[in-house]
Amino acid sequence: MDYQSLIEEVHHEVEVMGLRGQLANYIPELSLVDPNQFGICLVDCKGNIYGTGDYQKSFSIQSISKVFTLTMAFSVMKDIFRKRVNVEPSGNPFNSLVQLEQEDGIPRNPFINAGALVITDAIISQYPDPEKAIHNFIRSIACEVQIPVNPLVHQSELAHSSRNRALANFMKSFGNIDNSIDRIIEVYTYHCSLEMSCEQLAKAFLIYANDGHSVFCEDHILDGSSIKRINALMLTCGFYDEAGDFAYKVGLPGKSGVGGGVGAVLPGRFSIAVWSPELNTKGNSVKGIKALEILTDKLGVSLF
Ligand code: DON
Repeated sequence: MDYQSLIEEVHHEVEVMGLRGQLANYIPELSLVDPNQFGICLVDCKGNIYGTGDYQKSFSIQSISKVFTLTMAFSVMKDIFRKRVNVEPSGNPFNSLVQLEQEDGIPRNPFINAGALVITDAIISQYPDPEKAIHNFIRSIACEVQIPVNPLVHQSELAHSSRNRALANFMKSFGNIDNSIDRIIEVYTYHCSLEMSCEQLAKAFLIYANDGHSVFCEDHILDGSSIKRINALMLTCGFYDEAGDFAYKVGLPGKSGVGGGVGAVLPGRFSIAVWSPELNTKGNSVKGIKALEILTDKLGVSLF
């Protein structure tokens, strides 16, 4: 398969469509990025890397980091699933509060902000230096050392975290939060502010396509049954209230972030990362989703 020509073709086709969206201005620092950037990187299970456009430029991974904290949780504290975080799609926006009241402070899934905050809380309880543990874990699955945190984005998120604080406080009132709200918000916004390129993200996502193994550094990160479950969660919950639409158009497990990144996998074949900062009304990259739709249509492959 000539993946290089394929992604170049897809990049070009999407570029000429002139699709537009909005930058994530509720985190002011994210509204300062150049909206015209667009990169694609595909990594196959043999470790071949194919890239086009801005695929080596770093961007804010935002909610894509939730896949990595979830993966950490799967490695060391599987018991929190169902007890503290559920595994059902929410059908609601990523920062919604509404279901929490009716469902006793147990978030629907680990990808909505409430669920990711519970995972962060559990990681804080488990590790003496949670920022370092998360950072090192992501570096180890990406087999990359250079994954910086952007201090300006981190500060910007911290200064605009009222809604996430509300979610965490509300869950605390149900007894589903152990650590201080300040500390949880600090660590959560830290992992959202990490920066990776499409190339680094596609390398990190390879473990979800390759039964928990990275081909870039000998590590076996996770067992196959955990990978199956993480992929199921990405497919059903990775795009919040657009998860059905993404499955319908693209047919792959994936995860988006409000920095405009999308990571996705075709198990047994490849991982792919697409980045373009302008978002649709659900907070997902407009060009990112279109590129993946065209790519899976052209390839004629998906999960289905
Ligand atoms: O907590 C937030 O709102 C952001 N740090 C992350 C949200 C996000 O990326 C949603 N994904 N599309």
